[in-house]
Amino acid sequence: MASHVIPHSRPTIGDKEISALTDVLRSGQVAQGPRVEAFERGMAALLEVQGGVAVGSGTVALELALLALGVCPGDEVILPSYVCTAPWLATVRVGARPRIVDIEPDTYAIDPAGAEKALSPRTRAVIVPHLFGLPADLSRLQGLGVPLIEDCAQTLGATEQGRQVGSVGHVAICSFYATKLLCTGEGGMLLSNDSEILEKGRALREYDEQPTLEAAAYNRKMTDLQAAMGLQQLAQFQFFLDRRARMAVRYQAAFATTGLVLPCIPEGRTHVFYRYVVRVVPSGRSLDDVLARLERRGVQCRRPVFRPLHRYLDLDGFPESEQASASALSVPLYPSMTDEEVTRTIHTVCEELQ
Ligand SMILES: Cc1ncc(COP(=O)(O)O)c(C=O)c1O
Repeated sequence: MASHVIPHSRPTIGDKEISALTDVLRSGQVAQGPRVEAFERGMAALLEVQGGVAVGSGTVALELALLALGVCPGDEVILPSYVCTAPWLATVRVGARPRIVDIEPDTYAIDPAGAEKALSPRTRAVIVPHLFGLPADLSRLQGLGVPLIEDCAQTLGATEQGRQVGSVGHVAICSFYATKLLCTGEGGMLLSNDSEILEKGRALREYDEQPTLEAAAYNRKMTDLQAAMGLQQLAQFQFFLDRRARMAVRYQAAFATTGLVLPCIPEGRTHVFYRYVVRVVPSGRSLDDVLARLERRGVQCRRPVFRPLHRYLDLDGFPESEQASASALSVPLYPSMTDEEVTRTIHTVCEELQ
């Protein structure tokens, strides 16, 4: 048993965040205020879009994105199986019917051909998660002719054909959950180039002082405490990405001689390595067994998606999601990892999965 287990995730929080939060506490302005506005402007600049609406979580941002696009009960929303449950939850919350499709095996992203087959006259949106730091095939998905909601919870600062993720679809959402690329504890944002979508999003996050009484209104706001932390994280974003890129290079070189299938980066896209996900080639051992052994040896790896949607819903016909679920393993990679932790991770993974 290893003495110190390298956790799968750990936020990168330092003195800058601590002093920014102290300043907010001292200011007395702790609810939504000027820091939320500044954080929205900063995120909009990062994604190269017109504006953002900060909310309490990525799931809430997805729900607001659907509402702002006018998705109604009875409408259909296309989404992939291999993703956390948030896109499905947001879809059913607005009363729409999720149409779940399979993924591309190499990128883990929604399969554009599958999405095309799922189109119907009732399709109102496609939720496109950019998983693990790699943009989905936005060019092909744009060809579907349906509004795209870019789910950037796991991917910020990456590009597809030179375009920033989040700037291509009708609306983008982010999550600032503790383990994400930028962390505010909990938090999310909806971003868009469409003023009407931004206005609707702003109206829907407030319940108070509205011109009419709307059942969809609610309190979905972010606080200045969260935003102050987000602003500090944003200021360090390029440094975070550089560190991630350096670690990914080390993993890429070290794992090249193992039997592991390494992350693929299709031409025209960049990867920001939110997660370093490898495929374990079948060896008679189950993935759970591999994960348990690695953790016993001091490296906590994880399934990058806890359970695909089709499994929760008991649906057949998702061979690529099924395969990913059985073989994909996420190796720790985050800016606060020390070089020594990276070295130890490399040795342990190579020894266990040679
Ligand atoms: C792809 C994806 N979409 C949406 C979410 C939901 O974000 P949150 O946890 O902030 O609600 C997550 C977070 O885990 C995610 O990974």
